[in-house]
Amino acid sequence: MSTRAVVIGHGHHLPDRVVANSEFEASLNTSDEWIRTRSGIERRHFAAEGETTSNLATKAAEKALANAGLEANDLDAIILATSTADLTFPAAATMVQSALGMTRGYAFDVQAVCAGFVFALSTANAMIVSGQAKRIMVIGAETFSRIMDWTDRGTCVLFGDGAGALILEAQAGTGDKSDRGILSVDLHSDGEHRDILYVDGGVSTQSTGHLRMEGKEVFRHAIEKLAQTATDAMEKAGISNDEVDWIVPHQANIRIIQGTARKLGLSMDHVVVTVQDHGNTSAASIPLALSVGVERGQISKGDVVVTEAIGGGLAWGAVVLRW
Ligand code: UT7
Repeated sequence: MSTRAVVIGHGHHLPDRVVANSEFEASLNTSDEWIRTRSGIERRHFAAEGETTSNLATKAAEKALANAGLEANDLDAIILATSTADLTFPAAATMVQSALGMTRGYAFDVQAVCAGFVFALSTANAMIVSGQAKRIMVIGAETFSRIMDWTDRGTCVLFGDGAGALILEAQAGTGDKSDRGILSVDLHSDGEHRDILYVDGGVSTQSTGHLRMEGKEVFRHAIEKLAQTATDAMEKAGISNDEVDWIVPHQANIRIIQGTARKLGLSMDHVVVTVQDHGNTSAASIPLALSVGVERGQISKGDVVVTEAIGGGLAWGAVVLRW
């Protein structure tokens, strides 16, 4: 017998405003055609003025609670993955806690940029498996539109805002790969590469700053590191590639998603793709894709799902779970 962290609810929320690629053509030397062919992105959502990361996270969390048939006080904890919290402190997770009316347990943020949701899932899994918590809401939420340099065509056309949430619950398993829940985790970071994707501001430097990225360099690392971490996580879980039902990758670039699937020996029929509609929503991209994947009828109970992500740090990792 062993304890597993099993997904019992999901939800997502996207801000109302949808921005098509063509909207950038008026202010930047870019085109819908360039953005589509180089990244796979067709549109993204941007938060309205005054709409914050915790607002988006709260709406996704409410949907996940409704989906699981739970109340906020049925949760022991909220873990929110974000690099764009409302304020420097307190953690945006505590704002979600109070907005949900949750008066018990604890809430905190995790920051591992685009890999944030994978790191948050790993944290929640450790707390559940160790017996510290029975039910944890894990959210990825971002407002990357707030840290764009609107004069930099190499970055500002790529990112979007949104939120996705899962609820994990402790359930008894047999300890083998037939269990539902998180089966394995593989995490990495390498600060040697911190200067190819970063924000040039922060509390200690007294500014908010803007996202800076050497896209080609990040791309060079992405496919190799994602395929390796996914392979290692699958090996830890004892899952071979023909047992994988769905890869749910971080949605940064369709070419990275396709290249990673190819390296893993999986056809695109096994990949949930939302990058065309959401752009890169950093830590929100995987929970958004999971929630959309379920609503589309792609992911169903019992399916083996491999999530993988890479971003600033560099930080990267993968989680294998049975839905
Ligand atoms: O989520 C965190 C992880 N992030 C990622 O995974 C992003 C990884 N990188 C990428 O997705 C791709 O590198 C990009 C989509 C950012 C860029 O695609 P690329 O094929 O690597 O293009 P590039 O950066 O090599 O740029 C090619 C050309 C350049 O012009 P020259 O130097 O060849 O004349 C750029 O200046 O395209 C130009 N360019 C643009 N042209 C039109 C760059 N951005 C744009 C743009 N519109 N928006």
